[in-house]
Amino acid sequence: MKAEDLDRLQAEACDAVRAGATKDELRRIEREHLGKGGVVADILASIPSLEPAERRAVGQGANRLKQAILAAIEARENELDAEALAAERKAEGFDASLPPPALERGALHPVTRVTRELEDIFTSMGYRVLDGPEVELDYYNFEALNIPKDHPAREMYDTFWCGEGENLLLRTHTSPVQIRALQKLEPPFRAIVPGRCFRNETVDASHEHTFHQMEGLVVGEDITVGHLIGTMKTFLRELFQRDLEVRLRPGYFPFVEPGFELDARCPFCEQGCSVCKRTTWIELCPCGMVHPAVLRHGGVDPERYTGFAFGLGLSRLVMLRYRIDDIRQIMAGDVRFLEQFA
Ligand code: DAH
Repeated sequence: MKAEDLDRLQAEACDAVRAGATKDELRRIEREHLGKGGVVADILASIPSLEPAERRAVGQGANRLKQAILAAIEARENELDAEALAAERKAEGFDASLPPPALERGALHPVTRVTRELEDIFTSMGYRVLDGPEVELDYYNFEALNIPKDHPAREMYDTFWCGEGENLLLRTHTSPVQIRALQKLEPPFRAIVPGRCFRNETVDASHEHTFHQMEGLVVGEDITVGHLIGTMKTFLRELFQRDLEVRLRPGYFPFVEPGFELDARCPFCEQGCSVCKRTTWIELCPCGMVHPAVLRHGGVDPERYTGFAFGLGLSRLVMLRYRIDDIRQIMAGDVRFLEQFA
């Protein structure tokens, strides 16, 4: 066995390995060369019959041959694995050369966006942001707001009652937090309360059983309707980035006296449009001077303090802001709708 023979054997074996089409074929080549009675074994068996001077070189050559074949087999096996994987992916329609799918970005819900905007505006005017329970007591939702059990105003509120006894309910407005604020805070104070409200109503494009309001409450000495109007004008200027005329119409809510409906000039047109129903006015919010009975229920002396309150329809503001024409979209959670706010 000469060195050239070994080189030739190695070249042939490695060529065979590289041409091997399956792992079974590779196993066969490995057996033939490295197995019992295989090529390498034969060479090693021949060593004792060689001239002593040649033995070492042939032994080392046989070893190199073995290592070369093993390395070639491993490389070819990796190739076959990669080919198999590529074939499998191709069958699945997977193409590693395509760009990856676009990252989907989340977005703040439109109600969250408008809520934060309003919170910014009002906190800059010295308001604090309050929160209250969504499952409320009859006392806070009605009674303390000057709406006793037999009061016809209860009919304005289609109420979801919870449990027995008609004492617990899902709050029908954010006004109950007025009472909680009066009980907790020492006047003078200014507060807003954004939050979810619930009404047991037939749902349509402008009525939803779950919707959002933002209550406002300012209490102090000598608070007047002038403060209310000034506040709403400032608020509108911040929201729409321009001065809008406002007007008060009489409105009735048992917890304010006098009570008003506050309208603002339509921010979207001059001559009338679909948003203002061709009137150039939009109804902004009901509001009024806090009723003395309400102050008393909150433990505040109406002889000393007065206050104003307003109830912004947050859901309606969201609809105005983003030109949403169906209130049901807001809480539906349809990703196709929400994606538009990304
Ligand atoms: N809570 C009333 C409602 O949801 C709205 C309201 C009216 C709130 C007058 C007020 C207010 O704070 O002063 O129907």
